[in-house]
Formats: sequence, C-alpha cells, structure tokens
Amino acid sequence: MKILITGGAGYIGSHTAVALLEAGHTVVIADNLSNSKEWTIKKVTQIMSKRITFYNIDVTDEEAVENIFSNHPIEGVIHFAGLKAVGESVEKPLEYYYNNLVSTMVLAKACQKYKVMRFVFSSSAVVYGENQVPFVETMDLLPTTNPYGETKVMSERILFDIAKVNPAFSVSVLRYFNPIGAHESGIIGELPNGIPNNLMPYLTQVAKGKLKKLRIFGSDYPTVDGTGVRDYIHVMDLAEGHVAALENLTTGIHFYNLGTGQGTSVLELVNAFEQASGIKILYEVVERRPGDIALCYADVAKAKKDLGWTAKRDITTMCRDSWRFENNYKDR
Ligand code: NAD
Ligand code: UFG
Repeated sequence: MKILITGGAGYIGSHTAVALLEAGHTVVIADNLSNSKEWTIKKVTQIMSKRITFYNIDVTDEEAVENIFSNHPIEGVIHFAGLKAVGESVEKPLEYYYNNLVSTMVLAKACQKYKVMRFVFSSSAVVYGENQVPFVETMDLLPTTNPYGETKVMSERILFDIAKVNPAFSVSVLRYFNPIGAHESGIIGELPNGIPNNLMPYLTQVAKGKLKKLRIFGSDYPTVDGTGVRDYIHVMDLAEGHVAALENLTTGIHFYNLGTGQGTSVLELVNAFEQASGIKILYEVVERRPGDIALCYADVAKAKKDLGWTAKRDITTMCRDSWRFENNYKDR
C-alpha cells in the first residue's frame, strides 16, 4: 500500500517508515520539521535502500495536504504529526490545540474527499488519566491535567464521530505507552531538541557526559521502590504495531493499547541502563514533577487478539539500542 506518514521525520514516525518499507509498503512523508530534521529521512532511505517522497509542509495547511492526495494514490494515512511536550502545552495551549486538532481535521477531511478509508492515529496512555492500572481500552477516559493530553482525548472523539457517520472509514487509534530505544542499526533514534523532558533521552545524555546528573522526580510513590512506574516499549515494536494495525484495519473505529504490559520503575530503568551500557549514572532524588502519576502500564490483550501483535524486545534491548544511537550520533 502507499501510505502517507505525517510527522514521519520524527522519532516514532521515522521508525515506522522503516517498518512499513520492510513490510513492502511505499511511503510518502509530510513533516514541517518543527521538531525533527530532514537528516532522519535520509538515514531511513540509507537503512532501507529505498526511496521516500518527502513534503516539507504543515499538515494544518489544507491546500498543501490536498496537493499530496491529488499527486499520489494514497491508500492509508498514519497521523503522527503533533506537538508533544506536556509542560510546553500548559504554557502554549492555543498552539497545541490548533496544531494537534486542526491537523487531525484537515487530514480526516482530505481522506473523505479522496476516498482514503484507512486512518491510523497516534494517541497516548495519557487519555487514561489516573485510572487503575493496568489500563484497558474499555475504561472511561479521565481528565489529563494538561492541554497536550486533552488534544489526544479530543482527537479521539473527533475521529469517533466521523467514523460513526462514514461506515466505510476504518480508523485505528493507537494509545502508546512509553516508547524508548532506537533502530538496531544505531542510525536513527530519538533526537529531542534542547534538554530532554523524558527519562530515557535524559539518561543517555547523562551517560554521554552532556548532562551532569539525572534528577529522579519523587521516591515516595506507592510503587515497588517509590519511583514512578511506566510501561516502556521499544520503538521498533511500536513501529511494527502500526504495520499490524494498518494491515488488520476493519471498518469503524478501534482503540488499541500499544505497550508491553510490564511496569518498570525509574530506578529499575537506571539499573538496566547501567548494565546495558556499562556506565554508572549519577542521580539525585528531587521533588515529584507536577502532573506525574505513580503507575502507568497497559493491558495488551486486545492488540494481541485483534492485530496478532505483541511487543518482543525487552528492557535490556531497549537500553542497549537507546545507548547505541546516542553514542553513535555525532551531529549535535
Ligand atoms: P516527534 O516530535 O519526534 O515527531 C512528531 C513530528 O511531527 C515531528 O517531526 C514534527 O516536526 C512534526 N510535526 C508537528 N506538527 C506538525 C505539523 N503541523 N505539520 C507537519 N509536521 C508536524 O514526536 P514522536 O515522539 O515521534 O511522537 C509522534 C506522535 O506520537 C505524536 O502525535 C505524539 O503526541 C504521539 N505520542 C508520543 C509519545 C512519546 O512518548 N514519544 C507517547 C504517546 C503519544
Ligand atoms: N522522570 C524522572 N526524571 C526525568 C524524567 C522523567 O524521574 O528527568 C520520571 C518521571 O517522573 C516518570 C518517568 O520518569 O515517572 C517517565 O517520565 P517520562 O517523562 O519519560 O514519560 P511520561 O510517562 O511522563 O510521559 C510520556 C510522554 C507523554 C505521554 C505519556 C503516556 O512524554 O507524551 O508518556 O504515554 F503522554
């Protein structure tokens, strides 16, 4: 199939481009490079020795999006493009609501006009709020405490309403848990701008000596060792989950958790990283980060049953691959 990947120069989109090409699909990428570099697309073509058509456009621009649909026989869309920094979304709510909601509506509209019936959307475990773990797709969604999270809840709702009145539209909403790791080649990986917000890129930059020490946000949570627990998933497993979602789409809208089902605490991740890299991580425990929850992990039964997909790579592999990419990457 010929697939339009929005946000395909970014972290998850670029790894999904590799997985799609591996599975024999053709890829068109649309990205405005607001949080990525064209370099990454060149590296994907290098890994796969295959061509990718790239459009440097903003996907809130209806005309620019339609131009792609009228020039390519697109058969499916995977919509990754979005702003994703939780803290920044509190500072810049309008930017987040505009970018993340208008992009979803513009793409859904183009799909209706050009009769593209396959749509896969990047959602997040953030939509579960403080539900009881493990999070199951049938749970009621709870308030998310930040505009970023709300854009995911609202985008899900918009797609739900569109699917309800368009019986041929097939939508898969994928709720990601915590993607880490990098392609096994070490050629592409996560490239955050500035000081990372997320744990793994922060850890790898401490290991590399770019940052002095890790701050662990709170050690008094009701968890195994007091630090926050998350369901870390290798980005290539996540990428392969998108291929499975696309290839197993059926009409209507379907919601899937993409995680491993395993919780890992911050301290457990630090230990696993030290073992995988052979580098001691300097850290200090500081106050809790506002908005963080204690526990977040998935029930993964539905994706296994409907998509035949489960995550395969373990925490050691995730740490090894994150470190390999950070260690290889010279360009910053
Ligand atoms: P990323 O920032 O690396 O990739 C997003 C890409 O979208 C970037 O390349 C950026 O330049 C592009 N983009 C943003 N707005 C755009 C616009 N209007 N037009 C064109 N391009 C635009 O982020 P990621 O980690 O790869 O995340 C991809 C998606 O997955 C996002 O929607 C994010 O909210 C969601 N998600 C990510 C995580 C995570 O932890 N990484 C967790 C849950 C959900
Ligand atoms: N943490 C630290 N120090 C850091 C960074 C994080 O101790 O420097 C801790 C956090 O407190 C949390 C855990 O590490 O307990 C993971 O934090 P991340 O920032 O890596 O990830 P979050 O779970 O907070 O959020 C991520 C994405 C969101 C997404 C959410 C659910 O950033 O976009 O997962 O999928 F919504």
